[in-house]
Amino acid sequence: MKFFVDTADIDAIRELHELGMVDGVTTNPSLIMKSGRDIKEVTKEICELVPGPVSAETVALDAEGMIAEGRELAKIGDNIAIKVPLTWAGLQACKVLTSEGRMVNVTLCFSANQALLAAKAGATFISPFVGRLDDINIDGMDLIAEIRQVYDNYDFSTEILTASIRSANHMKEAALIGADVATAPPNVIKAMANHVLTDKGLDAFMADWAKTGQSII
Ligand code: E4P
Repeated sequence: MKFFVDTADIDAIRELHELGMVDGVTTNPSLIMKSGRDIKEVTKEICELVPGPVSAETVALDAEGMIAEGRELAKIGDNIAIKVPLTWAGLQACKVLTSEGRMVNVTLCFSANQALLAAKAGATFISPFVGRLDDINIDGMDLIAEIRQVYDNYDFSTEILTASIRSANHMKEAALIGADVATAPPNVIKAMANHVLTDKGLDAFMADWAKTGQSII
């Protein structure tokens, strides 16, 4: 499973990238707002740092506007994936932009039917939001499993990009289901390294080592 990092925070991306944990980046208008940076400036920096796909989201609500904004965002770097919402206009924009050879990430997906439409429109990535479904007491991971089955039934090449990930457990479940990509905030990726028994074991080793009176260097 590829790891995308869901942030526009350059320092956080750099730290994970140096460890080989970043196959791509996703941003959205809320993350750009949170960064306090100019969208084109910060997105260009991300594109220069990370060779993989960097999603930048359009904000127009009509297809023509999304297409124009998508073409503008694509000028930022060769690795830009244009993000459009899963509306009828977004699907129209997806079709046009992908037929121009651009990567398109169709976002705000909450059903298998929406994912099916995105695949038909040629989307490079579909972004189902698991955390926001969990928030309304619908199991978000069930949606990932449904989309996996639908795409596999018909050999669609659209990649399932599990989004709105809130926990390390979401990462494990996405990987078990066979999602192609998971995008997560940096703290969630780092939390995957934690285990209470690792901490406990390390404490015990350190205590015993201290009793030996030895040093390695
Ligand atoms: C994905 O592309 C979105 O930017 C993101 O995962 C949304 O996550 P949220 O529901 O935690 O805002």
